[in-house]
Amino acid sequence: MAKFSPPPGTADIFPEETPWWRRLEDTARRVFPLYGYGELRTPVFEYTEVFTKGIGNETEVVQKEMYTFEDRGGRSLTLRPEGTAGVMRALLNTDVMNGNEKRVFYIGPMFRGERPAAGRRRQFHQIGVENVGRVAPELDAENMAMLIQYLEELDISGAKLLVNTRGVAADRKPAEETLRKYFEQHIGEMCDDCQERVSRNVWRILDCKQKACCEIVAGAPDYVSLYTSESREYFDRVCKILDSFGVDFEVDRQLVRGLDYYAHTVYEVIHPGLGAQNAIAGGGRYELFLPQNKKPVQGVGFAAGMERLLMVQEALQAKAPEIGPGPVFLVSMGDEARMFNMKLANDLRCAGIAVLAEVENKSMKAQMRAANRLNSSFTVICGDDELARGIIVGREMKTGEQCEYTPAELMEYLKKSR
Ligand code: HAM
Repeated sequence: MAKFSPPPGTADIFPEETPWWRRLEDTARRVFPLYGYGELRTPVFEYTEVFTKGIGNETEVVQKEMYTFEDRGGRSLTLRPEGTAGVMRALLNTDVMNGNEKRVFYIGPMFRGERPAAGRRRQFHQIGVENVGRVAPELDAENMAMLIQYLEELDISGAKLLVNTRGVAADRKPAEETLRKYFEQHIGEMCDDCQERVSRNVWRILDCKQKACCEIVAGAPDYVSLYTSESREYFDRVCKILDSFGVDFEVDRQLVRGLDYYAHTVYEVIHPGLGAQNAIAGGGRYELFLPQNKKPVQGVGFAAGMERLLMVQEALQAKAPEIGPGPVFLVSMGDEARMFNMKLANDLRCAGIAVLAEVENKSMKAQMRAANRLNSSFTVICGDDELARGIIVGREMKTGEQCEYTPAELMEYLKKSR
């Protein structure tokens, strides 16, 4: 049969896979509140300007990857390519601009029209956090420590935390000039994209993966030494606190991140178990402008790609999440028994016991096969004889042990044992 696939870069997530996803979500819902974070749910689409202004017009995400459409009134809307800008839009409705700190996390789908590849989807899912309203190196370090704890609790070992500083806007200008001058001298040796980046966005040359560009980047001037002493001290303090937490990290001057809102600390967690798309999470401190705001919203946060977390778990051969036994299965022999079992199924479900029952006239063997397929730990067998005697037979599937019960006794037994 021909496959009816979803659009490229999207995927169906079937019930067998959802326990893996739920583990990522449950762990987030357990770990992040330890740091005072509460869950925020924002719409999957926003007015387009939330992203153009928030993320930055010059970024690849805004230039090439957004799914934008018009609503009925002609307003331009965009499926969220990331979570931070929408979360800031929502938090602006609170007292966050008065220096009141907010800590939120979010879980959900994001949309980017990228070329699909292993670990790169057009609909992907992020678990993200934002700590908004205050600026302090302590908060940046704590943010990274929380991500590391989250990964540890998912048994993700072998990940590497890369850290850098983007300084503030005033730092970037002189640094940018120095880098531009350097790259202009090598423009002929760089890839086509980077040749264009020399005038448009010199920072992105730093994280180009092309061999020729990497060699040129290796000789680039130390732009951080051109930052103000405040910015350099801010970053040193972040590193010191990380050290005091015992969090392993590497300072990587090529880490610039692809979104324009970052200021001060930026970071990424990469994992060697992935191929080219090796970033499992990324984030940093930001100053994010929104359409109606003259002052930026300040915060620090990260987002982890759920597909990539699952890929790493697969590469590490993580233990599958525990799935409890299948439902109690009701086997009926004959029409009347089936009627009886339908009512029994209903009563058991109302008492909180998972039940499935055969609804057609099938042989005992076929019904037992179905029970096995569903991994039932207990079956109930009912036929004319049992109906006449007002009992049913219950069988523990593991041991094969069988007992007779009245419906009330069965309910009690199942409530206690399941
Ligand atoms: P980002 O680096 O663009 O940052 O995305 C974060 C993570 O989402 C990546 O490290 C990756 O794991 C995953 N990801 C991104 N694009 C895709 C894709 N096409 N397919 C699969 N996974 C993907 C942000 O989105 C920022 N909003 C993070 C942040 C929060 N910064 C501050 N606060």
